[in-house]
Amino acid sequence: MKTVLVLNGPNLNLLGTREPAVYGSETLADVERICQQAAERLGLRAECRQSNHEGQLIDWIHEAGRLCASGEMAGVVLNAGALTHTSIALHDAIKGAAVPVIEYHVSNVHAREAFRHKSWISPVAVAVMAGLGVKGYGLAVAAVAQVTG
Ligand code: DQA
Repeated sequence: MKTVLVLNGPNLNLLGTREPAVYGSETLADVERICQQAAERLGLRAECRQSNHEGQLIDWIHEAGRLCASGEMAGVVLNAGALTHTSIALHDAIKGAAVPVIEYHVSNVHAREAFRHKSWISPVAVAVMAGLGVKGYGLAVAAVAQVTG
C-alpha cells in the first residue's frame, strides 16, 4: 500500500484557533483524520507531518523523493503556509527530489492580500488547490492518487 505524505508548514499547528474566520475551526488533528479517511477510500495510507521549520520540510521532501523513486510513496500534499510565498529553497527541493506535489491552501490565497498571490511552489507542483477549507485536504489526497495512479 503506497503512502501519501501530507506536509503542513509554519503556523498550521494553530489550525482551529488561528484566525477562525479565515481558516475555520477544525484542527490539525481533523486534517489528519480527513486525510486518513480519504487515503483509505483510495487504497492508500496517509502520513501527516507538520513543522514550523523550512529545513525540516526540505528534509521531508528529500525523503519523499527517495520513497517515490522506490515506489513506496505516491506523492505529497504540501501546504507550506507562508513559506509558499518566500521559499526558493522549497521550490528547489521539490524540483531536485522530483516529487509529485499537490500544493494546497486552506484559504483562497488569490482572494487575499497581494503578497499571498505569489507562490514559489506552484511552478514545481503538479497541481494547485486552494480555498476548500480543512475538508479540502481530502480532495488533495485524492488528487495525488489521480495524478500518480
Ligand atoms: C495558507 C495561506 C498562506 O498565505 C498562509 O501564510 C498560511 C496558510 C492556507 O492554508 O491558506 O499560513 O497556506
